[in-house]
Amino acid sequence: MTHEIKVFAPATVANVGCGFDIFGLALETPGDEVIVRMTSTPGVKITSIVGDNGKLSLDPEKNTAAVSVINLLSFLNIKLGVEIQLIKKMPLGSGLGSSAASAAASVYAVNALLNHPLSPKDLIPFAMEAERVACGAAHADNVAPALLGGFVLIRSYDPLDVVQISIPIQIYVTILHPKIEIHTADAREILKPEVSLRQMIQQTGNASGLIAGLLQGNAELISRSLTDVVIEPLRSRLIPGFFEMKQAALNAGALGCSISGSGPSLFALSLSTSQAQHIGQEMVKACRLHNTECDVYISPISREGPKIL
Ligand code: HSE
Repeated sequence: MTHEIKVFAPATVANVGCGFDIFGLALETPGDEVIVRMTSTPGVKITSIVGDNGKLSLDPEKNTAAVSVINLLSFLNIKLGVEIQLIKKMPLGSGLGSSAASAAASVYAVNALLNHPLSPKDLIPFAMEAERVACGAAHADNVAPALLGGFVLIRSYDPLDVVQISIPIQIYVTILHPKIEIHTADAREILKPEVSLRQMIQQTGNASGLIAGLLQGNAELISRSLTDVVIEPLRSRLIPGFFEMKQAALNAGALGCSISGSGPSLFALSLSTSQAQHIGQEMVKACRLHNTECDVYISPISREGPKIL
């Protein structure tokens, strides 16, 4: 048995506009890396974290990489120890699924060291428990695409039913990350517990339209469906200049643009790298009008989840 492994897991865009808590997609980059070592002394330890500016806890009960592994080992009834080195290569609190990438990479690594007793899909519930620790809600729309790659639909939470959506065309994602931090727990706190019948009709129409558009590779249908009438109106106020940046993306030819996960990042979809880059440049200009520093990431929707390095 190999005792040490290095694994990468990707950043993800959760919600994808109209699919709050039920849609997510994986990027090729950025992402997180972990080095995981099995030891004979039981217990899960975080031995080091780099790239987090000291913000993450080394306490295994509070760190998503460790929490997911503790849950996995307990399910498999394995009494070995695990040491995790976490290498953060993406911003925290950015809406790009940073906690999910660490959790996905860690459970994937431990499962690989144990000779794959579980499938990547089976690993989702353990990584979801880490999300509960990170933000109070065990949502799967970051961890599922981080573990499976591609575009994922969480059809149901109870029982968990995760559906992979295959897309016959290449879709590119532009991420604009304004450098402010939003905690997912706070961004969930401001949501209303109820939606109106009218909103329900619009949102389910768009969500169904988006899935149909992706499956058919129908860019116009994807574009018409990328509208969120429930969450974006409430959360956009947390992001200075949101509507100007969104408009800049649409003017530059994006199929659609909305908040990535709980923000502050925005995502915009398009059909080529050059278009994705142009959209990024225009969004940056709009962001700077609000005196906010920002980063841009460009990536196709990835076709794979974690990678052994
Ligand atoms: N669906 C979650 C939310 C994703 O929007 O709160 C958080 O990354």
